[in-house]
Amino acid sequence: MHKHFLALSDYNKDELFSWIQRAVTLKAEAVAGIRHQQLAGKTVCLLFEKHSTRTRVSFEAAMYGLDGQVVFMSARDSQLGRGEPLKDTARVLGRYVHALVVRTFGQNVVEELAHYAGIPVINALTDLYHPCQILSDLMTVLEKKGRLEGLNIAWIGDGNNMANTWIEAAAIFGFNLKLACPKDYSPEAEVLGRAQAKAPGRIELLQDPQVAIAGADVVNVDVWASMGQEAEQQARLAHFKDYQLNDVLLAKADSKAIVLHCLPAHRGEEITDEVLEGSQSEVFDQAENKMHLHKALLEHFILQAA
Ligand code: CP
Ligand code: NVA
Repeated sequence: MHKHFLALSDYNKDELFSWIQRAVTLKAEAVAGIRHQQLAGKTVCLLFEKHSTRTRVSFEAAMYGLDGQVVFMSARDSQLGRGEPLKDTARVLGRYVHALVVRTFGQNVVEELAHYAGIPVINALTDLYHPCQILSDLMTVLEKKGRLEGLNIAWIGDGNNMANTWIEAAAIFGFNLKLACPKDYSPEAEVLGRAQAKAPGRIELLQDPQVAIAGADVVNVDVWASMGQEAEQQARLAHFKDYQLNDVLLAKADSKAIVLHCLPAHRGEEITDEVLEGSQSEVFDQAENKMHLHKALLEHFILQAA
């Protein structure tokens, strides 16, 4: 059994599905006013090198909601920002807390922390993957559509960390995934190749958003320039201008299609205000589900390590 949560592909469908189901239960119990105390006496450290609103607050609220404690540290304010090696930081933090939730640039950073920390490390976004986000997005799809297998899911835009993780999810859960990405903005070739080789459904990389969205049950979009790509923002606007999710493009999806966006959104760029605020948008239920899913992850990984 793996101790860390760094990538979806480290787990099988049953394991990932059990965390989604647990999140559904925890959500129902929260609605019913049931108090949880299973992480009493436990502390998690959030170590973030990039900005965050949802992931930070949903992890903190999740931990407090299970009666645990949180220490937040931005890498900039820590000795990491002054060059202390990761392997020393990992071993020290591993003596203080019961799990690390890490948002950073390279996937190698979460891997190195996991190697040295001696406690579970959870990937809260790297340049390569955003596994916690896709798990809670799958929970939202399940809530709205009642199933994952056999669904047609579209990804319109950048072949970024979110796209890479949707690709891994498609290979594991067996839905069909069509991605439309501009030339030169494709997802990681290695991630795509590995997923296509084992996927029970179809994973197709296209360039035309109209083809990718045709008949889709779920439509996903994300920013055109991710964190760390701010200098490319202007150049990217030109390359992505035909990839905006607006009413005309959305009309090509199934009439009951739902729209997901992990947020933050840039209205008028990757998505119009009308679509984001429209009846098919589920982005705020999607954001809420991050907290329930994070409870399930914290409970599993911290109690497993205890
Ligand atoms: N969706 C998401 O990860 O949002 P934040 O960057 O605000 O955490
Ligand atoms: N692709 C985006 C996701 C933000 C939650 C980024 O990495 O900035």
